[in-house]
Amino acid sequence: MGGRLDGKVAIVTGGAAGLGLAYARRFVAEGARVVISDVVDGAGALKRLDAPATTHAMRADVSRFADCERMADEAHARFGRIDVLVNNAAVFATLKPTPFEAIAEAEWDRVMAVNVKGIWNCARAVAPRMRAQGGGRIVNVASAIAHKGTAGLLHYVTSKGAVIAMTRALARELGPDGIAVNAVAPGLIMSETVLANPHIAAFQREAVLASRAFKRDAVAEDVEGTVLFLASADSAFMTGQTLVVDGGSVFA
Ligand SMILES: NC(=O)c1ccc[n+]([C@@H]2O[C@H](COP(=O)([O-])OP(=O)(O)OC[C@H]3O[C@@H](n4cnc5c(N)ncnc54)[C@H](O)[C@@H]3O)[C@@H](O)[C@H]2O)c1
Repeated sequence: MGGRLDGKVAIVTGGAAGLGLAYARRFVAEGARVVISDVVDGAGALKRLDAPATTHAMRADVSRFADCERMADEAHARFGRIDVLVNNAAVFATLKPTPFEAIAEAEWDRVMAVNVKGIWNCARAVAPRMRAQGGGRIVNVASAIAHKGTAGLLHYVTSKGAVIAMTRALARELGPDGIAVNAVAPGLIMSETVLANPHIAAFQREAVLASRAFKRDAVAEDVEGTVLFLASADSAFMTGQTLVVDGGSVFA
């Protein structure tokens, strides 16, 4: 049986660790060639993927448009096309929950530059390639926290609300070119990077579990199938949508 991404080339931003690396691994298993792009070095991640012929790692800071253009050029040069862009990079696991009045202005600006402007940058870097190919699929990573309005992370919550809005507007601008733009909004997932950052791992965990229909922690495998669905032809006629994957915590 063929893979659901056979012949496809995908870029996963923020793919050097955590959920991004989990998506990359799943995509490779489904037949894709995958570029993991991250602000940190991806050599270790590449080793873990253990598929040298079909994977490539590179450094790019999504808040810088020139980096995103280089990312698109390098992915195209390496694998000859770009079918899927997963906008997963964000400032998240390293954040320390803080009352809104105490958030440092520089941190606010960085969260917006990476989580919001980063998606604009990657979309405008990759869209010309997808257009020239006659289509493509963009998957933006939002968060269920935007629906919940959780206290203590105002910059992050705001940024993920923007991701949902951008998904709708980009879907309208890119739809005529056959490019789908959808989002996934996970609830708290015990990714490896979340587990490595106790501030975030413990943040409202009890309240999150209590609010869920499924009373358990979530792991990367709980969300990667939804990302694969949005990256594949199985979601061919969907665009502008946000799928919440949070064990039944909010019904958006
Ligand atoms: N884990 C969760 O509970 C959860 C829930 C909802 C949404 N999300 C979202 O899922 C995505 C991945 O989350 P994660 O748990 O793996 O956390 P994470 O914070 O570890 O992942 C972010 C990745 O992006 C990279 N990155 C940061 N700044 C970058 C930049 N400027 N350019 C390129 N890469 C950059 C990091 O190096 C890291 O590899 C994020 O968008 C996060 O907001 C996570």
